[in-house]
Amino acid sequence: MNILVTGGAGYIGSHTCVELLNAGYDIVVMDNLYNSCEKSLEAVKKITGKDFPFYKCDMLDYEATEKIFKENKIDGVIHFAGLKAVGESCRIPLTYYHNNITGTLNLLDIMEKYNVFNMVFSSSATVYGSPKTVPIKEDFPLSTASPYGSTKLMIENILRDVYGANNKWSITLLRYFNPIGAHESGTMGEDPKGIPNNLLPYIAQVAVGRLECLSVFGNDYPTPDGTCVRDYIHVVDLAIGHVKTVDKKSNEPGVHIYNLGTGNGYSVLEVVKAFEDACGKPINFKIAPRRAGDIPECYADATKAKEELGWTAERDIAKMCEDNWRWQKLNPNGYNG
Ligand code: NAD
Ligand code: UD1
Repeated sequence: MNILVTGGAGYIGSHTCVELLNAGYDIVVMDNLYNSCEKSLEAVKKITGKDFPFYKCDMLDYEATEKIFKENKIDGVIHFAGLKAVGESCRIPLTYYHNNITGTLNLLDIMEKYNVFNMVFSSSATVYGSPKTVPIKEDFPLSTASPYGSTKLMIENILRDVYGANNKWSITLLRYFNPIGAHESGTMGEDPKGIPNNLLPYIAQVAVGRLECLSVFGNDYPTPDGTCVRDYIHVVDLAIGHVKTVDKKSNEPGVHIYNLGTGNGYSVLEVVKAFEDACGKPINFKIAPRRAGDIPECYADATKAKEELGWTAERDIAKMCEDNWRWQKLNPNGYNG
């Protein structure tokens, strides 16, 4: 089976390429390299010892995207490509809507034209908004608080409509919780541009000396230690979740929805401690005001993925931090070091 991986040079995409190739799938990768670089794909080839076609291509460019389907027999698409920074999406919403929505519409149109009715879409726990209770189940009410989140929810709805109009489609919406960690080879990992917004890359850059001090956003939340609780998941577990999805759902028409999380919540201070244990030195941090839009607690009920996909996350927080640290230590300036 030949899978087109859009956004395949990115953080989650590149790790998923490794797991797809290791599982025996063929892949074609497309990415415009806006938030990534080709070195991640060189790492994929080195780790797996396998080659695959790469198209440096923007999904907003209809003809260039169609060319991939003309030149390759594609059986299914894992659709990672998109812009993903919440804060930035509030500053340039039109860019986010255009890129994420128009790009996906192009892709869906081309897929129908080439009789490819099989898609796995990267959604996010952000579609649950501010949940009333935790753990979060797939049937919880949906809402969003940022243009980024809205693009995810809109695409989910578009995909539901696409299936409603043509029951040949097999669509899986994977709602990721907080992906962290890196491939254990230390050759692939997250490489954010500029100052990181997310917790783990920030901590890792403090540990390696690129940044001075972590601001812990709020310690007065109604949680055991007052800092926010999240469901951090190792990016390799997440990648394997995609392979299980393709294994199980490719030929099953419908709209399938799964939370991909561990089901465990860790506070910001617990993550700092786990990272200190992994890197063997203290992380300089200070308590800062709350960050607007943060919710106190967010973690998954991942039972459905376990029962229906046969998937559970296996790597614990110590392993996530250990692998994150190895990547950061060996590549202090990311792929461009
Ligand atoms: P990433 O930025 O590393 O990867 C996304 C890739 O898509 C990048 O390589 C980027 O260059 C590419 N891309 C963006 N717009 C494109 C376009 N128009 N045409 C072609 N390529 C384009 O991000 P990631 O963390 O790997 O996330 C992958 C997907 O998972 C995204 O859709 C993201 O919204 C979603 N997601 C990520 C997280 C997370 O915390 N990382 C959580 C939930 C959901
Ligand atoms: C963020 C996104 C969410 C996305 C998710 C995927 C926001 C508001 N939400 O979630 O849409 O799906 O990433 O990974 O951006 N923290 C600090 N100091 C920092 C950075 C973070 O204390 O410098 C805290 C945050 O307050 C939060 C926790 O660490 O409590 C995790 O933050 P982050 O990594 O940004 O992820 P989320 O906010 O959970």
